[in-house]
Amino acid sequence: MQNVEIQPKVTFDSSLAPNSAVAKANVNIALIKYWGKRDERLILPYTSSLSLTLSDLYATTSVHFDESLSADFVTLDGSALPTDDSTRLRVVAMLDLVREKAGISTKAKVVSHNHVPIAAGLASSASGSAALAAAASYAAGLNLTPRELSRLARRGSGSACRSIFGGFVLWNKGEDDETSYAEPIADLFAETAEPLADPLSEPADSHISASLPTSLLSQKNLNPAMIVVTLDSSKKPISSRTAMRRTVETSPAYMPWVEQSKKDLARALDAIRVGSIEQLGEVMEQNSLGMHETMRKANPPVNYLTDKTYAVLNAVCSMRECGWPVWATMDAGPNVKVLTDAGCAARAAEELRGRVAESAKFTIALPGDGVSVSASLKQAAKL
Ligand code: PMV
Repeated sequence: MQNVEIQPKVTFDSSLAPNSAVAKANVNIALIKYWGKRDERLILPYTSSLSLTLSDLYATTSVHFDESLSADFVTLDGSALPTDDSTRLRVVAMLDLVREKAGISTKAKVVSHNHVPIAAGLASSASGSAALAAAASYAAGLNLTPRELSRLARRGSGSACRSIFGGFVLWNKGEDDETSYAEPIADLFAETAEPLADPLSEPADSHISASLPTSLLSQKNLNPAMIVVTLDSSKKPISSRTAMRRTVETSPAYMPWVEQSKKDLARALDAIRVGSIEQLGEVMEQNSLGMHETMRKANPPVNYLTDKTYAVLNAVCSMRECGWPVWATMDAGPNVKVLTDAGCAARAAEELRGRVAESAKFTIALPGDGVSVSASLKQAAKL
């Protein structure tokens, strides 16, 4: 596969605020999961992963390097974080990486707002770390390529490297810091994909046309949406970092899942290439259930899924039996993300709501853009 680079949306204006930048990054939901690190310091994963960046669920972060500060000052959703807060320490670690690259020692003020429930398995760490990496690197004057930015975001939270890009995104697990980065699938296919035969445009050869499923048309036919079913937005009981480590170290199901994941990824990429939401949904759901199984077999077991999660899962399965194109995926939390076709997402969400007795919030999210960066604090409102 050929690697590609695209530019993120950088909207510098003429009224530059020196040493400042603001970034907005959307969340991404993994269709083929990242779970488990080979290298904890560099955040190098055991598996490559595939995600969909979503619109309207995002973080905005402003960073201002200020010579008058004696320590980094971090606020999250309006609250200043105490010095020993674990989120603050992760922000400072990212600022340190940026300072080292830029050759500066100036402390920074960081103001971050998350427009998703934090730490509830709704990928808030991905959007938060991606926005921070983008804002901090631009504020420090580092002119990173999107690939370099993806590698930097990875150091904050692995899944954040995928939020640099929009739409379907592949995180190549790579071998080292240089080769572990994300890239957008659309560009990858644009460069490498063989044009697919369109059976409907071949009326002369009815045999070919009849033998190909109608989903084998083109990538354009894939019109995905995610129904985000929020059952519980409280903080997860065990961090994904700790749970991953425990899974890798103690679960006999982990290495078999890593092997299976390679096949799952190939099947998912093929599904995107041929435009088959069915194939993509099936492999996505299996891959997620497999990941949760590896955790359940860890010692002691990790279980993020609750009775409410299973109630939604059962409803999704029974809807599928009735012909609805719906498949579920869960991350490090009880909430469920349901992949469907955008054309029927509103009806599917209503149907699901009717079948689930639990109180839940239903949000429909469509594919979203990659990170955007502005050099002006004034532009934050426009992002
Ligand atoms: O990036 P982290 O450390 O928050 O890990 C995220 C792991 C999952 O969300 C469960 C899966 C994924 O690929 O996003």
